[in-house]
Order: sequence, then C-alpha cells, then structure tokens
Amino acid sequence: MNLLLNASADIALADSQLHNTVKMAYLDPPYNTGRKFAQYSDSSPVKDWLAMLERTLTGVRATLTEDGSVFVHLDDKYIHRVRCVMDDVFGEQNYIGTMIWEKKNRASYLHAQLADVTDHILIYAKDKSKMAPLVHSATAVGKRIPVHNKGNKPSVLEFPAGSMTFNFSDRTVPAGEMNTPTIESALLDDLIVENGTNKNAFRMSGPFRYGQDAVTKMGETPGAFIAPKPLLRPSFLSTEAKGKVLTNLQSFRVNGSPTNEDARAESELIFGTEKGDDFDTPKPEALLERLIAAATQPGDRVLDCFAGSGTTLAVAQKMGRAWTGVELSPKTISNFIQPRLDGILAGTDPLPLDGYTASAQAYTVSTPEYAAAA
Ligand SMILES: C[S@@+](CC[C@H](N)C(=O)[O-])C[C@H]1O[C@@H](n2cnc3c(N)ncnc32)[C@H](O)[C@@H]1O
Repeated sequence: MNLLLNASADIALADSQLHNTVKMAYLDPPYNTGRKFAQYSDSSPVKDWLAMLERTLTGVRATLTEDGSVFVHLDDKYIHRVRCVMDDVFGEQNYIGTMIWEKKNRASYLHAQLADVTDHILIYAKDKSKMAPLVHSATAVGKRIPVHNKGNKPSVLEFPAGSMTFNFSDRTVPAGEMNTPTIESALLDDLIVENGTNKNAFRMSGPFRYGQDAVTKMGETPGAFIAPKPLLRPSFLSTEAKGKVLTNLQSFRVNGSPTNEDARAESELIFGTEKGDDFDTPKPEALLERLIAAATQPGDRVLDCFAGSGTTLAVAQKMGRAWTGVELSPKTISNFIQPRLDGILAGTDPLPLDGYTASAQAYTVSTPEYAAAA
C-alpha cells in the first residue's frame, strides 16, 4: 500500500509498522536558508533544525531494510553539520559518498562573492556491507531502452533499413513533426513500413541517447529497435545485461543531468501554475529517476519524508516502486501531491516515464492522531 502521512517527519516514522520496509529514503528537507517560501518557512535556530533532522534520520534508519540506503539533499551551508549527525546515526563506516548535483544552467548575478550552482546529496547505507552498488541504466536482455533522451543535445540519426519493427499495420508514415509536450522530434524522411519492418533507411531528429555510430552498429541486427505507435518513439531492445555505477557528479554538462530550470518547467506542465503561484523548491523528475533506478528494484519501497510537491512519490509510482511519503503541510498535500499522483493514476500525467511499467496501486492519505492533535 502506498501511504502519505500528513505529519512532521521527526515523529511520523516512529510507527513500528513502517520499520524494515524501505529500500531507499530520499530526504529533501528545508535547508534552513533563512528564506520564507510560499509554501513553507525555511528559518529555524540551527540547533533546533539539526535536532529535528537527527530525530528524523533516526526514524528513517529504523524504516530501512538491512540493504537499504538514504540520500539527503542539501545546499552547502550546513552540509558539514548534517554529515556529522549522519555519522552518528548511521555510523561513519556506512558513509557511501557525497554526490554533487549541478542545479543551475547559469549562475545568478546576485551572488556577492561566489556563485553557487551546486547542491549536495549525502548518501549512507544502513549496512554498507549489504548495500548493492548504485548502478544506473542496468538493463536486462530484451529491456526497451528509449532512443530519445529528454535534455540531450538535438542531433540527427539514421536508422538502417530492416533495423526497426512496428506494432502497427504496414503503411507509409510521412515525414513530419513527432513532438510530445516534453520532447521535440521529427521524422525527416517518409518511412515505408512493409512486413512489419522499415523497408528504407530513414532519419529522425531529436534529443537522443545514442550517437550515429552506436545506432548503425546496433542496427546491424534486424529488429534491433521497436516503435509501437506512429508517433515514433523507438526503443532499443537490449541484447545484454549491463549497468554503470553512478558517479558522484551529476551535471547537465557531463551526463545530461536535469537542473532546477527543468524542475520548474515540469511543475508548470503538471500543475499549470502561473509564476508566483507554483511550488518554490521542486526537484526534477529525472534526477529522482536516476537515484531510484540506482538504489532500488521494481516493487521496492521508497520513502520521502519531506515530500513537497511530490516529485519522489510520483517518480516512484511511475517506476513501479511502492512508496511512503510524509509532508507537514496539508495545503501542499492537497494542492500539489494529490493532483500529481491522481494524474498518474488517471493516465493524464503529462510526463510519462519511458522504459518503466507504472504502478496502478492507489494511495491512502492519513493524518496520524498525534499529528491531528498537535
Ligand atoms: C525542499 S521541500 C521538498 C521539495 C520536494 N523534494 C519536491 O521535489 O517538491 C521541503 C518540504 O518539506 C516540508 N516540511 C517542512 N518541515 C517538515 C517536517 N518537519 N516534516 C515533514 N515535512 C516538512 C515543507 O512543507 C516542504 O514541502
């Protein structure tokens, strides 16, 4: 069951029913920036803030399975203080590393001395000896890997004749735009589908995961690619199982990592909000997809106890993971998290995730007694 608790994170996780259930916890707490955001205030005495995080992390540790891990997202102001807390709660020996995430495409001119373009994600295991490597893009034989990859630089690819199969009847698909709300792409040549495969070589433009050399090589195998519908979003059918260990640098320049700008654009698509009315601090879905893919398998449970606009919960749902969420603000739950999850369950999510089977599991919102009384 997917469960959304309207409560404070530092007390919500005491319930022993949640213990030993979570494979991966992602926490994106208020960073104590001293700012007042539209949805929450981000200013507390440092001692109180650290004590709240320590209680929360102690609760998180109890929810983790023996092979589970926790990711704590912060800016650089208090990261050293939180690392000390996490050393105490999880044990220094269970420190996995600190990921640097390049959060901005461009530095702001408002910084007086040093422009801040990165956030940090502290990663600890419950028990390092039991935690699997953080492998991204692990592929099983026959897994469909989308050829398009939102955020990559646009290029043109030619698919060799006979390299693609189609799940629609034979026809000629005329050259033209193949855009979705999130990906601009075009078919540059008429495509002749005969006997369920492409009779001719054809070109597409768009943001792609692969370069031409790779596509030419993969296309030597007949039917290496599959495209189920005439709005062409081909996938490569993987022929070998392999994976890449995540690096501790997630950067839009180096590995196409999304930024806060992407997160804001996603928010507008999902919530359709005007500027000033949107959630102030959302994270991009593709960042969570990368972390969840590396730390969990389908069916595992993901926990986010500072759920905000619901990015982690939404991505977990789309990736076929179970989830538990905690959020203090009832308004944030009703204005952001619920509409977002309801859209996914109703099939109207504007950002479907390629390559995964979404969970159809409904969720329950609960306000525990202690929280209602508080
Ligand atoms: C940085 S935002 C999380 C953003 C989220 N990752 C997203 O992508 O939208 C922090 C969230 O924590 C919530 N929050 C603040 N204090 C909390 C507490 N003690 N327990 C649970 N949630 C809390 C805030 O209301 C806010 O929604």
